[in-house]
Amino acid sequence: MPIVDRPPFRPTSAPPRTPDIAAVMADPEHFDVEYVINAYMDGHIGSVDKVVARQQWQDLVQVFLDIGLDVSVLRADEHLADLVFAANQSFPLRDGTRRVVLSQMAMPQRRPEVAHFRAFYEDAGFECLELPPNSVFEGMGDVLWHPGRRFAYAGWGFRTHRTALEPFADLIQAPVVALRLVDDRFYHLDTCLSPLDERCALYVRQAFDDAGLAAIHACFPDAVAVPVQEAARGFACNGVSVRGHFVVQRGCTFSAEVARSRGLEVVEVETSEFLKSGGSVGCLHIRLGEAL
Ligand code: ARG
Repeated sequence: MPIVDRPPFRPTSAPPRTPDIAAVMADPEHFDVEYVINAYMDGHIGSVDKVVARQQWQDLVQVFLDIGLDVSVLRADEHLADLVFAANQSFPLRDGTRRVVLSQMAMPQRRPEVAHFRAFYEDAGFECLELPPNSVFEGMGDVLWHPGRRFAYAGWGFRTHRTALEPFADLIQAPVVALRLVDDRFYHLDTCLSPLDERCALYVRQAFDDAGLAAIHACFPDAVAVPVQEAARGFACNGVSVRGHFVVQRGCTFSAEVARSRGLEVVEVETSEFLKSGGSVGCLHIRLGEAL
């Protein structure tokens, strides 16, 4: 399958993928900021209020249940403070075959997390596909599906390596548009691109190079740039369009208005404890199109 810096054809000509029916989240019991591997964590070591974090996480679970996702929860591990960011350890193929690609985390602190997801998926009857050794790849933190299609966008430069994308595209058998990330506030693709519907995505202009911006506009004719402060402070682009709703950190007023204008129902949540670690709604779950 092609990996492209400039899309050769419209994502709308790609085959459909399975709809969002389930989500996996990881229990926040041992979530904290214990080390600094992104700009947001700096100054926040040991500062997470565990009680507040659990309440915010539980509220997000309830939002997903209310909009009709089946939510499964992974057990926490006392040695893995970032396990709660369930978007990062894997990437589901979404072709109806119960397969996922396992990540190879960039940071040593997070590498053991992947085994937990492997065990979870194997129990659920999923097949886990492996990239070749030394293919640094951070799952749905850096790769997003086009709404409704088997056509993917991959961010690289801070976590995921460009060289991982060729074998990745072969595994998922879908076109992958490679987008170079250039601003360390937007270290994962899901911090700076949020596909809303087949024609519209929210994105952060500062996060991409010119080729990336051209690709985003080619794939999303109605793409809208989010004010950089809303994306950095409020993690607006970590908001997710799911089952007719846009679930996003409270206070992202510009992004919420765009989502409303696209016909989505906006659901605001509070994720302040997780923002201390550089994560919000999108980072805290992974969506599947196959029942668990
Ligand atoms: N502290 C985590 C890290 O830096 C946050 C991960 C956020 N996840 C995401 N999908 N952007 O790895």
